[in-house]
Amino acid sequence: DPYRILWREKVTSTNDEIRILAGQGMSEGLVLIGEEQTAGRGRRGAAWFSPKGENLAFSVLLRPRAPKHLWSRFSLATGLAVAEGLERFLPMAAIKWPNDVLIDDRKIAGILVEAGADFVIIGIGINVNPEKFPDELLATSLKKECDREISRAEVLLEVLKRLAKYSGRIESDFEELLDGVRQRCALTGKQVKFLQGGNHRSGRVKGIGSSGELLVELNGSIEGIIQADEVRVCS
Ligand code: BTN
Repeated sequence: DPYRILWREKVTSTNDEIRILAGQGMSEGLVLIGEEQTAGRGRRGAAWFSPKGENLAFSVLLRPRAPKHLWSRFSLATGLAVAEGLERFLPMAAIKWPNDVLIDDRKIAGILVEAGADFVIIGIGINVNPEKFPDELLATSLKKECDREISRAEVLLEVLKRLAKYSGRIESDFEELLDGVRQRCALTGKQVKFLQGGNHRSGRVKGIGSSGELLVELNGSIEGIIQADEVRVCS
């Protein structure tokens, strides 16, 4: 087993606290679980809703040997690991590029990948057993989808198992990882809008390219989007 699990009753954010441990020289494979997060973070500085005792909030420390320009692929690797892990409990999870995991357009897991000088932190939040979410969140949980309480330990192990597999495929065997992501891509065929470098852009999603970029048809030509703020489906 490549992982060592550290469990803490209360943390600010597992991503922030594992970064400190990384700085102290902890090795790859450390997993920090926070039973309660007082400052859980989402992407773009948003707060992450995670009621104590009902959710999974954890971070994994990697010290990748793959070159840095490939590290953004960890987002896709993690999205696929989480989606497949959840599919042990549910028929099908969708991946909204780069790495939201959705069930019927409702978010069931969020991923926050952050890089350090020589390490990567993979932060994962999974809605396991909450039954109620703030109205403004379009979210769901495993319990809501399965109509039963789900073991957080089981979910954790299913996801970690697959993360070990896919985080090793950002350099070689990336095609296989991509296939899994493409099969679950929630955006293909959809009209989307997004902000890129401060510009509003919109177009139709054609799929995911060979480097993991989102292919969007913009003004008649297809562009590969490597990085964008939240991609929204136009209604
Ligand atoms: C998002 O969807 O915007 C990403 C949410 C990521 C939440 C997880 S919970 C564990 C880890 N620690 C954090 O502070 N954030 C991530």
